[in-house]
Amino acid sequence: MADTRPGVLLTRKLPAAVEARLCSTYEVQLNTTDKPMSKAELSAAMTEFDALVSTVSDPLDAPVLQSGNRRVRIIANVGVGYSNIDIDTARAEGIAVSNTPDVLTEATADIALLLILAATRRAYAAERKLRENRWDGFSLVDGLGSSVQGKVIGIIGMGRIGKATARRAAFGLGMKVVFYNRSPISDLDFEATRLDTIADVMASADVVSVHVPGCGTTPLVNADHIAMLKPTAYLINTARGDSIDEAALIAALTEGRIAGAGLDVYTQEPEVPDALRSLDNVTLLPHIGSATEEVRTAMGMVAADNLDAFFSGSTLPCRVV
Ligand code: DGY
Repeated sequence: MADTRPGVLLTRKLPAAVEARLCSTYEVQLNTTDKPMSKAELSAAMTEFDALVSTVSDPLDAPVLQSGNRRVRIIANVGVGYSNIDIDTARAEGIAVSNTPDVLTEATADIALLLILAATRRAYAAERKLRENRWDGFSLVDGLGSSVQGKVIGIIGMGRIGKATARRAAFGLGMKVVFYNRSPISDLDFEATRLDTIADVMASADVVSVHVPGCGTTPLVNADHIAMLKPTAYLINTARGDSIDEAALIAALTEGRIAGAGLDVYTQEPEVPDALRSLDNVTLLPHIGSATEEVRTAMGMVAADNLDAFFSGSTLPCRVV
């Protein structure tokens, strides 16, 4: 007998418990190779399935969303960010879009903290020296980093992940917190000073951590902002590659105009500019902010909750459009 359950495509592999749950409710096509799908494959999928469970590696732009004879009615994106989806087009086409906030907040803030410490303590350069057999033994003066205690952390975007990072920096590292956020924030359980502009934060912080969504072509943290960083400052980005002007950051690092950086995200993932790879004063991670077994399972389950709500006609727990 034909399967009459909604057809759901998982564009990437998900933790086994999530795949099992989805397979028990829907007619699921898995991506057993976990290879990212091309735009042509995504366009075809738009006509073959009722729903997509997608993620950051799926470029769901206007031409893909507008594929002729479209069948997809909901895109359950796995991730808090959804800059991979053309939201205006999805809205215009009447395609529901959901995301998976909250469950990844603490894990992503952990990675921001890891990058703050790795950058300020020059962990990458130190580890490379050891692995390459260039360590001559303990030294009182070589490879010194910067202490963070009593220094200023500047948070750009005091949303859930910004707050969790600031809390760690305040309570765990003894840092003073300043931040930029478009609207006032009243629910902080640590001391923090809201500054008027991104420029104010850039100019006054010793470590700047970016927590604003990617904005397509115009990064919120632009070249002028990067030029305002102190020569002793560090820039941390766990948000999206295009949240900052990546080229301006590379120039600042290459010319030694700032002390260093810690990055988990890039503008053209999985491409990482050679200029960035070759620098010793930057720690580079491959977009692992939410990459724990527990969190990736929780994200998949939230995506499944969104699908279940959609197909049962209830309110989606995390609807974006
Ligand atoms: C997110 O949730 O946005 C992470 O960056 C993974 O896409």
